[in-house]
Amino acid sequence: MESSSFSAHDKAARYRELAPQLAALLDGEPDLIANLANAAAVIRECVTAASWVGFYRTVGDELVLGPFQGKVACVRIALGRGVCGTAAAERRTLVVPDVDQFPGHIACDAGSKSEIVVPIVTAGRVVGVLDVDSYQPAAFDEVDAQALEQVAAMIGGLAWYGGES
Ligand code: SME
Repeated sequence: MESSSFSAHDKAARYRELAPQLAALLDGEPDLIANLANAAAVIRECVTAASWVGFYRTVGDELVLGPFQGKVACVRIALGRGVCGTAAAERRTLVVPDVDQFPGHIACDAGSKSEIVVPIVTAGRVVGVLDVDSYQPAAFDEVDAQALEQVAAMIGGLAWYGGES
């Protein structure tokens, strides 16, 4: 039985608890879908501001929805479109304090107010993105960016497969 828990209230301290928990969840398990599913769950538990946590996988010139926690979401996003597609195309983390001000933002959930998207890069390719949304405006900052980039690096070490471009 897997379990996870976070004792700290402070955001940075909770992120420090995340890395070892995620490492323990991934340890010895080769299945990508199982690992992304547990990763989404543990990140959702860690990030108290999150309304949605999940992964999109690069397939050809699109991002395709992967394991997530939250409401149903858009399945396919063209590279270069929305926050997710832009982060993937530009290979950089995007912190969006107000999604309504982001040109081309794709509103999967009208309640979403802010968002952070971190590309997952392995062997020089963007194999997917980690997307975290919040109902709170400006929920994410440099603390989230650094911590979730560390998470994305751990996730990038998994056995990604498929039609990555
Ligand atoms: N808002 C994202 C789409 C994904 S959902 O929020 C889960 C975007 O603009 O790329």
